[in-house]
Amino acid sequence: MSDIQKSSVFDVEQVRQNFPILGEKIYGKPLVYLDSAATSQKPQGVIDAMSYFLLKENANVHRGVHYLAERATEAYEGSRVKAQLFLNAEYAHEVVFVRGTTEAINLVAQSYGKKHIGEEDEVLITEMEHHSNIVPWQMLCEQTGARLRVVPINDNGELLLDEFERLIGSKTKLVAVTHVSNVLGTINPIRRIVEMAHVQGARVLVDGAQAVPHLKIDVQALGCDFYVFSGHKMYGPTGIGVLYGQSELLDEMPPYQGGGDMILSVNFKKTIYNKPPYKFEAGTPNMAGAVGLGAAIDFLTSLPYEALAAHEKDVLDYGTRMLSAVPGLRLIGTAHAKASVLSFVLDGVHPHDIGTIIDREGVAIRVGHHCAQPLMSRLGLPATARASIGCYNTRQDINALVAALGKVREIFQ
Ligand SMILES: Cc1ncc(COP(=O)(O)O)c(C=O)c1O
Repeated sequence: MSDIQKSSVFDVEQVRQNFPILGEKIYGKPLVYLDSAATSQKPQGVIDAMSYFLLKENANVHRGVHYLAERATEAYEGSRVKAQLFLNAEYAHEVVFVRGTTEAINLVAQSYGKKHIGEEDEVLITEMEHHSNIVPWQMLCEQTGARLRVVPINDNGELLLDEFERLIGSKTKLVAVTHVSNVLGTINPIRRIVEMAHVQGARVLVDGAQAVPHLKIDVQALGCDFYVFSGHKMYGPTGIGVLYGQSELLDEMPPYQGGGDMILSVNFKKTIYNKPPYKFEAGTPNMAGAVGLGAAIDFLTSLPYEALAAHEKDVLDYGTRMLSAVPGLRLIGTAHAKASVLSFVLDGVHPHDIGTIIDREGVAIRVGHHCAQPLMSRLGLPATARASIGCYNTRQDINALVAALGKVREIFQ
């Protein structure tokens, strides 16, 4: 990771050098990758760290007494400490490795939720949630008889906090809310939401999938009970993510899955479970993935945060201006506090046609319902086109997008 800048100036060209895939040509055109909200590209440091682990350190963690098993365990547990520091969690054992955001939310729903949420209780989510922060709660409600309630948004894509205040009450046992919307880019006021929830005695789970690549996260300052994210959206590998849970909550939560590593002792009459985080990490974990996540954290935290945020804001603001000037284009999601997502629709053109045509120009964006069908219904749209920005995107990428949209308009005129 030697070529990552250490200065406070954000040199995007230097950052791009870390991402070999950005040199690829697509249909003979330079790749313009504007789909980081779906999955980010991977820096060389992450690729190297995983490859080094597999080449030199691979062995099963925790159980071995031999040299490699110790090296592998050190690498795996080292990543846990990196994730702890990344989130500013108080303890490393508050970091549970999971497959990703989806698994983390299912874990909390089936473990914490099944224990604490019953027939008379309510789970509060919002209209802008990803399916992975809706369906696990619906499943829990079906299992327990609890009620799912939904906080609406305004037409700019901002949460209606007065509605939030109206809907939350003594029956609310858990609030599950996204930090940043994957469709609208809206940054939700988590600190305020946590305060309102805690006054009612409700716990708060924050879906940080779209926040971790862009915002500095401090779970202690946010005061949330659970914070979850995926490695692959923050320049790390797929198949690894984090559930942060406050120590005393993880302590009293039952395990989610049974198997090896999550036990202290087993006999046919009774099993004694291991302590967190191991209680929640049944089976051989994704060791190379955890190492890759550690390297992604190293990469992200080596970038000068203020300058990175200013750069991403510049590209977002530039994109907002440029797209707004495209005839017939309407931006979806115009919240005051916004991060790195530009969703839009174009008069008379289905988003799938937009995505397919601009792909031929080398421009990769996402089209569809973005796993947020209830939000699409609220917006009265079947789908949107979504350009999303990572640390490597530039104003030139936006220019390429706008030029490619010109081709779409030529075809559909
Ligand atoms: C806001 C949000 N939550 C959850 C998820 C699910 O993440 P994963 O598929 O990595 O589990 C996504 C993925 O797009 C997302 O954008």
